[in-house]
Amino acid sequence: MTVFLIAALTADGFIARDPTHTPMSWTSKEDKQFFTQRTKEARVVVMGLNTYKTIGKPLPGRQNIVYAPPGTLLEGVQITQDDPKTLISKLSGEGFQEVAICGGATIYTMFMEAGVIDKLYLTLEPILFGSGIHLFNKELQVNLKLESTKNLSETTVLLEYSVQK
Ligand SMILES: NC(=O)c1ccc[n+]([C@@H]2O[C@H](COP(=O)([O-])OP(=O)(O)OC[C@H]3O[C@@H](n4cnc5c(N)ncnc54)[C@H](OP(=O)(O)O)[C@@H]3O)[C@@H](O)[C@H]2O)c1
Repeated sequence: MTVFLIAALTADGFIARDPTHTPMSWTSKEDKQFFTQRTKEARVVVMGLNTYKTIGKPLPGRQNIVYAPPGTLLEGVQITQDDPKTLISKLSGEGFQEVAICGGATIYTMFMEAGVIDKLYLTLEPILFGSGIHLFNKELQVNLKLESTKNLSETTVLLEYSVQK
């Protein structure tokens, strides 16, 4: 099982201005294409309720799992409160070989703290927010290995890291 985190970052390291701010408004079409292709390969996407609300509907062609309080009703979506290790082992038992962790900061941090992330895909977009929501919202000490860099376009760079465990 490979668990990867996938995010678009401003050049100053933010994923959004505030919890209602959608990446759709500021990320490149190349990043959107990469996100769609890579998450469809994984077949399952995991996100928090705030992120789901910015999208407003399940991502098609993928199993959508959303962290939300018990009793939350979202059509076409599986709600969970599982700890990350439990969720990953359930998905592994269901035959998934990859899981895409799609944010936001709360969910990225919870999965990184649980030590289940193997890989990160970070797209750097040529924009600055100055303040906002960082990729993570707690102190972490994680060493990464840069596996590859790719220009998605003349202005957008994709960084692929593995987590040193
Ligand atoms: N740039 C990018 O690539 C990217 C990617 C994804 C998201 N984002 C942005 O990130 C922002 C959202 O980040 P965020 O940290 O505010 O929110 P989030 O991680 O999307 O969702 C957090 C919410 O999930 C629910 N949740 C978390 N853990 C739970 C658990 N164990 N059990 C039940 N519910 C749980 C909680 O809802 P309750 O508070 O109701 O309990 C919590 O407030 C948005 O602006 C979004 O657009 C950016």
